[in-house]
Amino acid sequence: MRLLFVGDIVGKGGREAVTAFVPALRREYGCDLCVANAENSAGGSGITRRCLVELSGAGVDVCTSGDHVWDQREFVHDVGRLTQILRPANVHPGQPGRGYGLFTGSNGRTVGVICLLGRTFMNGLADCPFQAADRIVTEMRQVTPFILVDIHAEATSEKIALGRYLDGRVTAVLGTHTHVPTADETIFPNGTAFQCDVGMVGSRESVLGRDLAPVLQRFSTGMPARFTVADHHIRLHATVVTVNDYGRATAIERVVRDLD
Ligand SMILES: [Fe+2]
Ligand SMILES: [Fe+2]
Repeated sequence: MRLLFVGDIVGKGGREAVTAFVPALRREYGCDLCVANAENSAGGSGITRRCLVELSGAGVDVCTSGDHVWDQREFVHDVGRLTQILRPANVHPGQPGRGYGLFTGSNGRTVGVICLLGRTFMNGLADCPFQAADRIVTEMRQVTPFILVDIHAEATSEKIALGRYLDGRVTAVLGTHTHVPTADETIFPNGTAFQCDVGMVGSRESVLGRDLAPVLQRFSTGMPARFTVADHHIRLHATVVTVNDYGRATAIERVVRDLD
């Protein structure tokens, strides 16, 4: 089995690159399930029902999210009716939607997907991701050995620690949130594929997907500036994980595609 994981999709340009590349990548690598982080898919901040429909049409089976999940106000009301989106799992149980779920790959296998938020340098938004992972992974492993975790976090140390903590219990722990891909893709000794950050689907002529000028102005002068989304020179970052019949990863490969 192969899993395709796509990094944070930023705005319209990001969605266009997903539409342009995901169907071909699925065919090229023979991927059975595609998971993508959609927290920045709507105008660079948050998620809408329409964006999710667009991403589903491009072959994304499951969308994960992160700290920006509630940035689009109407999404709070829509999330409960959408089966393909996961909010972070380690938040107050009163938040609408769900943080993990079981999905069926095109090969008929059941795959568990879990969305977790980190705590280090993340403004105290989340409960302990390690405890949440323990609870959810134990529950999921009753049903399937194929489990993918999106750890949406700032600190590389926290992500690596979670990957090591779950080594042998899940198929892959893949990071998102920083929008910058890391070159540390590996398979840990007990068979869990890991990468600190998969990267983003956004402009390579940008700061994390935002136009250069206002970000440079804010950093250099300290004055407020409206951060607009960069819509050109879109680069897609994704990672493909190959999995054996026991849910152990046997290969992990970074994928890069340029739209224009
Ligand atoms: Fe993001
Ligand atoms: Fe984020």
